[in-house]
Amino acid sequence: MSIRTRNDKQMKIKAPIVEALKQAYNNPTYQFHIPGHTKGLGTLTDFRKLIGKKALMVDTTDEFDNLGTLTPATGPIKEAEELAAQAFGAKRTFFLLNGSTIGNLAVAMGLTKKGQKVIVNRNCHRSILTGLIISGAEPLWIVPEKLNDWGLWGNVEVKEVERLLNENDDVSAVWITNPTYEGVVSDIKSIAEICKKHNVPLIVDEAHGCLWNFNDKLPTTSLKLGADIVVHSLHKTGGSMSQSSMLHVGKNSMICEEDVERALMLLHTTSPSLMLLGSLDAARANLQSSRGQKQLSKAIANAKYLRSEIDKMKTIHQLKSGFGYKTDVTKVFIKADGLSGKRLESILEIDFGIEVESASDIGILILCNIGNKRSDFEYLVDCLKKIDTHNYKDIYYLENKKHMPMLTPIIEVSLREAYFSEKEIIPKSQAVGRVSGEVIAECPPGITILVPGELITEAHLPYLTDYETIEVLKNKM
Ligand SMILES: Cc1ncc(COP(=O)(O)O)c(C=O)c1O
Repeated sequence: MSIRTRNDKQMKIKAPIVEALKQAYNNPTYQFHIPGHTKGLGTLTDFRKLIGKKALMVDTTDEFDNLGTLTPATGPIKEAEELAAQAFGAKRTFFLLNGSTIGNLAVAMGLTKKGQKVIVNRNCHRSILTGLIISGAEPLWIVPEKLNDWGLWGNVEVKEVERLLNENDDVSAVWITNPTYEGVVSDIKSIAEICKKHNVPLIVDEAHGCLWNFNDKLPTTSLKLGADIVVHSLHKTGGSMSQSSMLHVGKNSMICEEDVERALMLLHTTSPSLMLLGSLDAARANLQSSRGQKQLSKAIANAKYLRSEIDKMKTIHQLKSGFGYKTDVTKVFIKADGLSGKRLESILEIDFGIEVESASDIGILILCNIGNKRSDFEYLVDCLKKIDTHNYKDIYYLENKKHMPMLTPIIEVSLREAYFSEKEIIPKSQAVGRVSGEVIAECPPGITILVPGELITEAHLPYLTDYETIEVLKNKM
């Protein structure tokens, strides 16, 4: 365990934003400033009752009550960012509001320029593309391995990164998503070594891997493997509130952190929520505390229990590490014989009151969280056993809809040029053969079906059943 060995009584884990919020809460002032709900009095009573008076009392922004500022980081916020950098093994950490999305936008805006090339995996989150549209850098696509039996993207091949770096001498960054949404882990160590050899920074979108530095049974964080920048969605699995994330600069990073900081300053809200920032501080402190360490160990034990029970089932199967890739044990992707993922999801929800993270045509994703109890898993296992032994019918095919596109893009026009070109909206029935003018990505997982500049083919149609019209480039047939 890299984080700590003594218990919390011996070593008090500091949470400076949480402390500052407590101070402000205990010493209320007459408030003549934003937010105008003024400690919750100026809002709907039902809402106040629902979320609680205390939550509204700590809903404030920076500038007030000696809470520090986010951009530039000062006071308790700065201190909290420094503690986070130590905990995650970074040279510097920035707290993010608007999720890892803003982290990706800031990285693109701060580190890439118009016309430069960026090596990026095709199954990246749409926020990376938005960032590249802003900066004008062009993606050089890596199409990862395809796990066809699972309908999932696999790992990014090291030799593909190497090939693209050898063939292009004007690459400004390599940008890899690791792990994938479903927990597939690529060989970041080797990718980092190749990037170093070519003197190109490696950015890792580790949105789904923020727990890794807190337990050595989980994969190794890219911050330890030589990444220059790593983005973490703490709110996804780390225990902070929705929308709060972190961007870390690696200890030996070759990038200029001020470039990212400047971009964040421009992109961030000027009224940051202290409640969300406090939740980042709290999540980091919790993960470092003996309580958080126990929660994480239990989450891993629960995941192993779930996996061992699934192994005993006849018709339900789980994704495991395979040739060339590893998996994060806490992300359990399963499929059931004779049932689509969507149908499995709805059986769990309607018949058993269980909500899973997501579903595709093939399977469902179950997250084993630090907040789950063993009894949650025992219930889930019981329900899966029932599904395993009863004859559920699949009626989902009636919708004729597909998820998780795994298509190799045919790019006709560069990303930014396409995005800013003259466009028209046409019926989907006329879209094949035209060039997309928009980013189409269903969430979750936010992986693009179409990017601006991509040729629309028959293969896209099953993923576009919810769309009646598509925005395409006007003069491109
Ligand atoms: C790989 C990846 N990166 C980035 C994001 C964006 O994260 P956020 O929701 O924190 O903005 C997501 C969201 O699902 C994601 O899956």
